[in-house]
Amino acid sequence: MSQRNGDAITLRRVSRRYGSGDGAVSALDGVSLAFPRGSFTAVMGPSGSGKSTLLQCAAGLDRPTSGSVTVGGTELTGLGERRLTLLRRERVGFVFQAFNLLPALTAEQNVALPLRLAGRRVPRARIREALHQVGLGDRARHRPAELSGGQQQRVALARALVTRPEVLFADEPTGALDSRTGHEVLTLLRGMVDRGGQTVVMVTHDPVAASRADRVVFLVDGRVHGELTGAGADAVAARMTGLEATPC
Ligand SMILES: Nc1ncnc2c1ncn2[C@@H]1O[C@H](COP(=O)(O)OP(=O)(O)O)[C@@H](O)[C@H]1O
Ligand SMILES: [Mg+2]
Repeated sequence: MSQRNGDAITLRRVSRRYGSGDGAVSALDGVSLAFPRGSFTAVMGPSGSGKSTLLQCAAGLDRPTSGSVTVGGTELTGLGERRLTLLRRERVGFVFQAFNLLPALTAEQNVALPLRLAGRRVPRARIREALHQVGLGDRARHRPAELSGGQQQRVALARALVTRPEVLFADEPTGALDSRTGHEVLTLLRGMVDRGGQTVVMVTHDPVAASRADRVVFLVDGRVHGELTGAGADAVAARMTGLEATPC
């Protein structure tokens, strides 16, 4: 696949194997994908199909066994640990199913923590702006226990956005939320793409969540197994049902 300037992330023939010999697992097997700037992509597939591994390799949290990953024109293969750490910190954001907030810290302290740990001073205005962006401008002094699940996930989102990353990766961000609060988080992600020109890549099991994306990429056994563009929840669900019946 050729590099296009319009792509925030490009993966070329990315494979990731765990272990060796008879026990080796091929989590990704020659995946080539591009995520255009300003697009919202959902990644779906059966459990164990390599979705989390794909996100982690694309975000520089894990290194492929072979193949290459390019983030905003920077080739990750061959970057040393220090530069890779910098790239992760500055240019990508990550949210997980578990919010991973520290209970003793307020929302604004949680948002500032990764940068502070990296020895950076964080202007308070920047933190307030990130909280404002996720609709929590008035909750900066609240601790996680004083916030709902949806609000906690929005604090995690603000923490991921505070560096203004080129791409936001979300691994089942609504997996721990009820459908109403999950919907709020999805609306925020959609708005970041539509109004902020952000690039979002999200793993989900939920066809309704996936239908909020521009494109849904399907993985089976570490390989891309087609995609849908502009599909509704019913079409996504029908495709997933077909995939789960796919023999391994
Ligand atoms: N650290 C690891 N060590 C060994 N095997 C792993 C590791 N991480 C993932 N795997 C294996 O790789 C495959 C893909 O895992 P994963 O990317 O987590 O799938 P998904 O997110 O789609 O459920 C699975 O077979 C899983 O057991
Ligand atoms: Mg996973």
